Amino acid sequence: MRLDKLLSVSAVATRKETARAVRAGQITVNGAVAKRADMAVDPEKDSVCFCGNAVFYKPYRYVLLNKPDGYVSATEDGREPTVLELLPPLYTGLGLFPCGRLDKHTLGLMLLTNNGELSHRLLSPRRHVSKRYAFRVKFPLSDTDCDRFRDGVTLEDGYETKPADIELAEDKRSGVITLVEGKYHQIKRMMEALHNQITYLERISFGPLALPDDLPRGAWRELTEQEEQMLLAAAE
Ligand code: URA
Repeated sequence: MRLDKLLSVSAVATRKETARAVRAGQITVNGAVAKRADMAVDPEKDSVCFCGNAVFYKPYRYVLLNKPDGYVSATEDGREPTVLELLPPLYTGLGLFPCGRLDKHTLGLMLLTNNGELSHRLLSPRRHVSKRYAFRVKFPLSDTDCDRFRDGVTLEDGYETKPADIELAEDKRSGVITLVEGKYHQIKRMMEALHNQITYLERISFGPLALPDDLPRGAWRELTEQEEQMLLAAAE
């Protein structure tokens, strides 16, 4: 692999930054100053340092993002801002994409990765990876509404949803819903089938990942080693 590619996939430096650092003699490969940005390196064997810091090669990246209102879950969109635009330039070249979609006005936990196989497994209906959403609706929900939710609801196109859990707060208009599938606009359509309307929706967990309390809206961070292991286990 080229040195500049290694540094860009490791989210250390863009190609331009690598070229600049090579000119300044700030990169070493196995202790020797790198002379060219396109020199071949073995990411598994060679020891690369950028400005004195060891570079750890990571073929797959996992980013946890707290999605704000108004962003679409896509890598590109001609009209609307995408969740990818919330990441710095160093991350936009890594081939990250959203693992599952949230609607434009849904907030909260979004996982971005460049691991297509893992994403496919996590989203596979067979694995029943659960997603929890804090919600608010326009009208109070009755016990019958909740029972219908728990039994599964027939949507307007005839699709019968899998049973979904619903925990209702005292105000009867908010709470937490747990889904084990992810159909298009699923919660909104389930509520519409009950003649109600979602007014607030925020994903608070995805499989083993919970939305961290200290991650502000619009902010992101890479998964911790422990979160990454839990995620891989959930996809087994
Ligand atoms: N259900 C919805 O209706 N919207 C989402 O964004 C997620 C689940």
